[in-house]
Amino acid sequence: MQKFTVEKLSGAIGGVVHDLDLALLDDDDFNRLCDAFWQYQVLVFKRQALPIDQHIEFGKRFGRLHTHPSSAGVDGHPEVLLLRNRGKSKTITEVWHSDVSCEEQPPSISILQCIESPPYGGDTLFASQYGAFGELSDGLKAMIEPLRAVHANFGMEATHPVLRTHPETGRKALYVNKGFTKYFEGMSVEESRPLLNYLVEQGSKPDLTMRHSWEAGDIVMWDNRCVMHYAVHDYGDMPREMHRVTIAGERPI
Ligand code: SIN
Repeated sequence: MQKFTVEKLSGAIGGVVHDLDLALLDDDDFNRLCDAFWQYQVLVFKRQALPIDQHIEFGKRFGRLHTHPSSAGVDGHPEVLLLRNRGKSKTITEVWHSDVSCEEQPPSISILQCIESPPYGGDTLFASQYGAFGELSDGLKAMIEPLRAVHANFGMEATHPVLRTHPETGRKALYVNKGFTKYFEGMSVEESRPLLNYLVEQGSKPDLTMRHSWEAGDIVMWDNRCVMHYAVHDYGDMPREMHRVTIAGERPI
């Protein structure tokens, strides 16, 4: 058993884990790590540099792995999403989103390892959707409680509740995002836009966020069921490479 500790990174979200080697995780460590993860929503592990097989093994402890419906994996490992980028060449992740929420059963957890960090920039922002829900007025909470929203991309479409209940914590989180959510069920895109924009804006307010500046070997995991994230593409023409292992999720309720 490793005597790791978790240090809070902001008021609303995130913790950095000290004195834990993910390659040596035993069952006690894993159970304590899960407790911390449900609480912090995002966990940062510095200087891990896990070989790809160990990255995959770590992911499998949380459940079956998800394969991205349209983006390529690392050679020989289709379940490890390759995010290789120079500057603004691929900006699909430069938007507040929850991974692949256009699927009927969107991924639950994402585990991202930095393979090559740019010399500057390239941070990832995370925002607590528990916090986003908690800060809404009682009137707006009651208004959006029955709403469902259509999420679409990659030629797929799914309808999910606007407020979802986390299966581990029982807490409610706002579940709409800029990347995938198109409109509310029963309303037009135009009718939906003002409220959708408002909810995503509320859900990404700076005081609900934390920001990670990457170094090669860092691993950050987040819970897509209660977190939105945003990759900042501000590194000019410099290279940035990340590997993501993603855990299959359940139908949001
Ligand atoms: C992602 O959106 O899953 C990737 C985030 C990043 O590259 O920082």
